[in-house]
Amino acid sequence: MLFELGLALAALHFAVPLGYYAAAKRWLRRSWDIREDVRYTPRVTVIIPTYNEAENIVRRLENLLAQDYPRDRLEVIVADGASTDGTPEIAERWAREHPDVKVAVLREERRDGKAKSLNRALRLASGEVVVIADADALWAPDALRRAVAKLADPSVGAVSCVKKPMEARGIEDGYRGYYNALRVAESKAWSTPIFHGELAAFRRDALEAVGGFPTDIGADDSHTATLIALKGLRAVVADDVLCAEAVPRRGYHAWRVRRAQHLVQHFARILPAVPKAPRRFKPILAIETYLHLANPWLFLAAIALLAASALAGSLAAAGVLALGAALLAYKPYRTWAVAQAYLATAAVRNLWTKEEVWRKQDKSNGHAADGAMIQISATSDKPALKGAEP
Ligand code: GDD
Ligand code: MN
Repeated sequence: MLFELGLALAALHFAVPLGYYAAAKRWLRRSWDIREDVRYTPRVTVIIPTYNEAENIVRRLENLLAQDYPRDRLEVIVADGASTDGTPEIAERWAREHPDVKVAVLREERRDGKAKSLNRALRLASGEVVVIADADALWAPDALRRAVAKLADPSVGAVSCVKKPMEARGIEDGYRGYYNALRVAESKAWSTPIFHGELAAFRRDALEAVGGFPTDIGADDSHTATLIALKGLRAVVADDVLCAEAVPRRGYHAWRVRRAQHLVQHFARILPAVPKAPRRFKPILAIETYLHLANPWLFLAAIALLAASALAGSLAAAGVLALGAALLAYKPYRTWAVAQAYLATAAVRNLWTKEEVWRKQDKSNGHAADGAMIQISATSDKPALKGAEP
């Protein structure tokens, strides 16, 4: 009995994402039904939230300067959360040395979390389009232009990027390939509920209609995009909008757990709205909510039941567990299993801390970042989304 139940839960755990991924692969083959317009060059406000980004801020600003977007249509706000490493001073000096770009540096007295800084900056923003640019990320030179061109379509309210890790570290690379494919597929079908603060572009009126960025849950980027999608506009991750993000040198697991915590908070908050979601968004939102909130627990429950059954003498249960353990040598499976562990850990950790203000990870990348940019610009027409397995 334990054995059958364990097996059934394991089967369900894998069947839903595999089935979803099969559907997503079909969506991925579709062509985009968004009417882009590269002549649409509205005024854009780029907000860079910073907390102790002295190491990254100049590179971040230079990368913005290198965007092929009309410079007189661009405004940059560095929204600093009381950095103690001189970040705002460095940004101010850079602004003085580059009078041809409009850069404002906003300082807070106390560190108050990313989302509150974003909202303060939003009140000062003059752009029709507002773009979040995490300080530790870089964009391909055409990323901004391509993202904005999509906002020319009146059905689109928000656009985000596909992400590449700056350095292939541990499982991060495989993990990104699979999720990038999924985000793009969902976007082609309608909208994706997961956005990236590394580049998140919003139509400003849509952003204001949902009340700006949520300050009581961590996933400010994903939650805002989803609220916009729930209002009927599309929130898409586009495969020609590329960015590279820094992966921590140390504390990789803590970083992944914290981000999982933010996603779990996001989907828990979204759950009651799923039945009322626009028709084409509803299945996507329902499955992603299930995959983030419930599915990881099926995996753990299946392992527990099979272990109990094996202890009670079931050779079949021991065999299935041994097979599961052996499969860990297969990277896509290992990546998946680890992601389940992060999500489950995150749900439990959310019981006592929401990590609205989080510890700064060491993500210094040295010269690796330049390599990553060469890579993302070289592939900017066709990002590598293949070879990604769940
Ligand atoms: N103003 C301000 N105040 N900025 C902050 C604060 C703060 O208290 N904390 C972090 N930031 C800035 C960082 O300097 C960085 O530019 C950006 O916010 C993202 O912070 P990271 O520390 O790089 O976080 P991450 O890359 O792991 O975060 C990812 O997940 C978050 C949600 O879980 C990104 O996708 C973020 O965009 C997202 O908000
Ligand atoms: Mn980051």
